Amino acid sequence: MLAALSQVKDPELGRDLVTLGMVQNVRVRDGAVGLTLVLTTPACPMRGQIQEAAEVAVRGIPGVNDVRVEMSSRVAARAGAPGEDLVPGVKNIVAVASGKGGVGKSTVATNLAVALAQMDASVGLLDADIYGPSIPTMMGATERPAVKKERLLPVARHGVKLMSLGFLLEASAPVIWRGPMVAGAIRQLLSDVDWGDLDYLLVDLPPGTGDAQLTLAQSVPLTGVVVVMTAQDVALSIATKALMMFRKMDVPVLGVVENMSSFVCPHCREETAIFGREGDGERAATRLDVPFLGRVPLEPAIVAEGDRGTPSVAARPDSRPAQAFRDIARTMAGRISILNLNRDGALSGK
Ligand SMILES: Nc1ncnc2c1ncn2[C@@H]1O[C@H](COP(=O)(O)OP(=O)(O)OP(=O)(O)O)[C@@H](O)[C@H]1O
Ligand SMILES: [Mg+2]
Repeated sequence: MLAALSQVKDPELGRDLVTLGMVQNVRVRDGAVGLTLVLTTPACPMRGQIQEAAEVAVRGIPGVNDVRVEMSSRVAARAGAPGEDLVPGVKNIVAVASGKGGVGKSTVATNLAVALAQMDASVGLLDADIYGPSIPTMMGATERPAVKKERLLPVARHGVKLMSLGFLLEASAPVIWRGPMVAGAIRQLLSDVDWGDLDYLLVDLPPGTGDAQLTLAQSVPLTGVVVVMTAQDVALSIATKALMMFRKMDVPVLGVVENMSSFVCPHCREETAIFGREGDGERAATRLDVPFLGRVPLEPAIVAEGDRGTPSVAARPDSRPAQAFRDIARTMAGRISILNLNRDGALSGK
């Protein structure tokens, strides 16, 4: 049995299912075989393919007349690094960043978080945009976080645990932050919040390459960063600056998302590239030698959904942008599995 399954490779991780420790709970009875494959993420982009390959391999064993392969998952944690006990139950912290404002970071962060939660991952979303926290609005969270044993309890929306300075600040009061305050605020939002056990904690950063980004990169072990850009942004090479900053700080770049890559006419459904040529993000990713995670079309409905507090993947799961966000979430989760595997040598499923 294991010999047959050791012939099946996870196409993305490049190793066989037995070496990866994915095969569990093998039952054999009168030629009927049942087993469970434990994937490295519930959002595995290769899920169907791996399941089918395993079934075919086991069916090929003489004497086997029935095969049942169940799928489950256990997300690997980013391997040990200083500062880890700041958020002990959180396996992977992923920053969503951009070179400049308004490119759709918060839109991407909320949709990726909800998409991962829909795929059964446990997900948190931290709004670290201290200058303009928009996550509460985009997720439709109006209540304030409760306090328990001197720790803040995140607010749950769309299956995601949320925390934002927006919950704590007076809406009308202007906030003037100096560098050290930014650092302190972000560290508190990580350590003084009862996040519980999370597979992924996404952090929506303010735009640019300032204090918030530096603090986060320096004080928490980031699994990696997702950089959001528009095609226009590529031309101005602002996103490149952000990429370079994270690279310099040894934060792995999980990949680039090209947002508003083309305009989909709500009437005739035709797609038009408006901010430059479609595919610019992909070309920039290749040039900078970072993975390309995917592109999201520009659709007026996305604005309305953000304003209403229901991200597109929840509001219109069958729409083109929702599909794009889910694909990006899967690709990102796959990249995280690869990174953790390579860093560890073996998967740590703690
Ligand atoms: N693919 C898209 N199609 C249409 N509108 C979009 C798309 N992505 C984002 N938007 C809209 O563009 C505006 C800016 O998006 P968002 O707030 O997500 O950007 P941001 O990078 O987080 O901005 P900031 O730098 O201010 O934090 C919002 O009104 C949002 O609804
Ligand atoms: Mg934002």
